[in-house]
Amino acid sequence: MSKPAEPPDDDSQDPSVSRRGFLKYGLLGFSGLATAAGVLTPIVAYLWPPRLSRGATGGSVAVASTVDLPLGQGGVFSVANKPVIVIHTAGGDYVGLSATCTHLGCILFWNVERQVIACPCHEAYFNTAGAVISGPPPAPLEVYRVQVEDDQIYVEGGQS
Ligand code: FES
Repeated sequence: MSKPAEPPDDDSQDPSVSRRGFLKYGLLGFSGLATAAGVLTPIVAYLWPPRLSRGATGGSVAVASTVDLPLGQGGVFSVANKPVIVIHTAGGDYVGLSATCTHLGCILFWNVERQVIACPCHEAYFNTAGAVISGPPPAPLEVYRVQVEDDQIYVEGGQS
């Protein structure tokens, strides 16, 4: 007694790729690419140098474009693995200061409404020169050198 003939597999009839085969291999390929990207991205990010370094002294780091930091705005950027607050002052200057509070080390932020650097931990304030306006910090903020070239804002890695 012979077995009844099984229906032919869709893949065996048509030499072109079937919809099922396309989905199967397409999903496999996509998941393989996604896995590779997930593994390679942190490795490349680790091996790739900081955004832009130049200069013989360890260089400056490009932190933002002038478009990103209009008059009266400020932001905290990583420079040589340290938080630096860069401010485009109301007077039109660009200043860079350590964003680490000299009291207990909290990370400072730019208070755009009051145009001061503020500490979220103990309500301390610094002016754009880094001097303590109020609060418990015992010392002013360290100053970083800032330069603007071709609409790009650079902060030198070492304090000035
Ligand atoms: S940590 Fe900034 S005021 Fe205390």
